[in-house]
Amino acid sequence: MSSQNVSRIFVIGATGAQGLPVVRGLVGDGKYSVLALTRDAGSARAKSLLDMGEVSILEGSFADEAVLREGFRACDGAYVNIDGFNTGEKTEMYWAIRCYEIALEEGVKFFVYGNLDYTLKKGGYDSRFRTGHYDGKGRIGEWILFQNQVNRDRMGAALFTTGPYMEMVVSSRTPMTPTVEDGVVTWRVPLGDGAVVHVALEDCAHYVRWLFDNPARANGMDLEVAIEPVRYADLAAAFERVTGHPARYVDTSLDDYFNGPLKASADKPAGYNADPDDKSTMSFRDNFTGFWNQWKHDIIKRDYALLDEVHPGRIRTVEEWLRREEQRGREAGLGGLWERVQPETLQKHSILKIGEDQRRGRL
Ligand SMILES: NC(=O)c1ccc[n+]([C@@H]2O[C@H](COP(=O)([O-])OP(=O)(O)OC[C@H]3O[C@@H](n4cnc5c(N)ncnc54)[C@H](OP(=O)(O)O)[C@@H]3O)[C@@H](O)[C@H]2O)c1
Repeated sequence: MSSQNVSRIFVIGATGAQGLPVVRGLVGDGKYSVLALTRDAGSARAKSLLDMGEVSILEGSFADEAVLREGFRACDGAYVNIDGFNTGEKTEMYWAIRCYEIALEEGVKFFVYGNLDYTLKKGGYDSRFRTGHYDGKGRIGEWILFQNQVNRDRMGAALFTTGPYMEMVVSSRTPMTPTVEDGVVTWRVPLGDGAVVHVALEDCAHYVRWLFDNPARANGMDLEVAIEPVRYADLAAAFERVTGHPARYVDTSLDDYFNGPLKASADKPAGYNADPDDKSTMSFRDNFTGFWNQWKHDIIKRDYALLDEVHPGRIRTVEEWLRREEQRGREAGLGGLWERVQPETLQKHSILKIGEDQRRGRL
């Protein structure tokens, strides 16, 4: 078998919430260089990538075969996180498939696919769990592992399966943005007694690095990551312990949830460039109904013993994450978490680029 150790990695989604720590983890010690794809080389996030070291930029869209070919040809590794909230589910699947095919043709040696759980399947093909931005990735993840059974010596492949970023519980314009009501930090979400398998972005840097550092073991692997299953009553209690300020979780019906801060977008396509007249396009309401149902019914599981082995220093509890974030925010001059979730401060920052860009941009 030819070596699947790589040196230069083409990263799709590099300026995103997930991409920034992933790129930092790859280039931080100079072991890898990165070619980062972005639609706008002049954005603040694209410029911040250049400050990380061995990063160069390719300007263009993943929805352009010539651009993909140029990026994959210039590299021997690939990290692909296609933004389904731009494309919608159907278009995401097409371009994800083309990424794998073109990467293989252009001689990439190791391909890591930024994946999410195939929730519909894991929920027994029950439509209550139909979540376009999960299923669109999860189906392709399975397809990639299937191709990999015959292609594994020519191009290794691994899935990196994440989940909702922990950072989103203290960020604006996310499905779990908190409000402050009568001085109490409040998460109103339709979660019941279920738990969200939240992921720490900081740990994504280590996990993705591990996949590229260990191609023989990672080839054919689906590395499914999380901190722990987070119940929001526990999130609120941990927030109180860490900040000394009151917090609560209010279980909310789906109707009330979609009549809350998300009301204006509830009936719009989940993907901002998806065709609203295409019957396959899921609305924000339909998509996030499945999303919350999967957590409410504890559909998604993780192998925490494996994660301890792959990343012994990983963040293991929501409280540990909150403590680190409290300290990190203070050191970065953002203030403590209590200050950061106050409405006027919260609006200034979004962990998601899509939030920063206000769901605008070309395909
Ligand atoms: N939010 C979560 O908790 C979470 C968790 C796991 C996975 N995901 C998935 O991750 C994907 C989004 O990435 P993110 O979470 O990092 O969000 P994000 O912060 O909003 O970043 C979106 C990224 O996608 C890039 N992008 C969008 N359209 C593009 C195009 N046509 N061509 C090239 N690049 C394009 C953006 O680059 P430019 O704007 O610079 O072009 C940016 O890097 C979605 O599919 C989402 O389902 C999200």
